[in-house]
Amino acid sequence: MENIQYKCAIFDLDGVLVDTAKYHYLAWKSLAQELRFAFTLQQNEALKGVSRMKSLELLLGFGGLSGLFSQEEKEQMAEKKNRLYVEKIMCLKKDELFPGVLDFFRHLKEKGIKIALGSASKNAPLILGRLEISGYFDTIVDGSQVSKAKPDPEVFIWAAQNLNIPCESCIVFEDSTAGLKAAKQAGMKAVGIGTPKNLPMADLVIASVDQYIPYLA
Ligand code: BG6
Ligand code: MG
Repeated sequence: MENIQYKCAIFDLDGVLVDTAKYHYLAWKSLAQELRFAFTLQQNEALKGVSRMKSLELLLGFGGLSGLFSQEEKEQMAEKKNRLYVEKIMCLKKDELFPGVLDFFRHLKEKGIKIALGSASKNAPLILGRLEISGYFDTIVDGSQVSKAKPDPEVFIWAAQNLNIPCESCIVFEDSTAGLKAAKQAGMKAVGIGTPKNLPMADLVIASVDQYIPYLA
């Protein structure tokens, strides 16, 4: 990947800055248990980056239960999952921020590169608060502000527009297939956080955001 000087780094939250992906998984898994089917980690990959209601649809599909519930019942299920999830993230500790994140943020600030959040989660402000990192962001776009979920590029385009930066000058850090697709659709560079096997469409795959420090021009 070329050493372009990007003007803005946009971060997904869950699975990129903090391992809340495991809490999402545990909450969906207990809902699946109540509905009497098993939900595997492999299946959970498809839910990453996906909005709450879309995740529920996928989960019900895995359990062979698509089309069996009314909208009201589905909303109740999604609320229940969220209660379980919020219970877990209310106990989130500052030190659960992935190692190297603050170091990377400081490097970006030194280079004058803006920092943005582009998350599908409506719980993003709560999580940023628990981690005490809200102050690092020049703009925050989360699931309560967008109408179209990833892989739609809306969340990333909003972040760029809020900062008056063209999309081609933005680089996105994402751990999900849906998020990487969204970044590409927005015309942004897409860096995958994870393994090349799970994220084949990324422009580059690294294990954690600070591994991008040597690429900063
Ligand atoms: C994304 C997660 O960041 O946010 C998904 O990767 C989650 O797993 C989505 O479903 C919506 O989150 P929330 O907190 O609004 O239910
Ligand atoms: Mg994510």
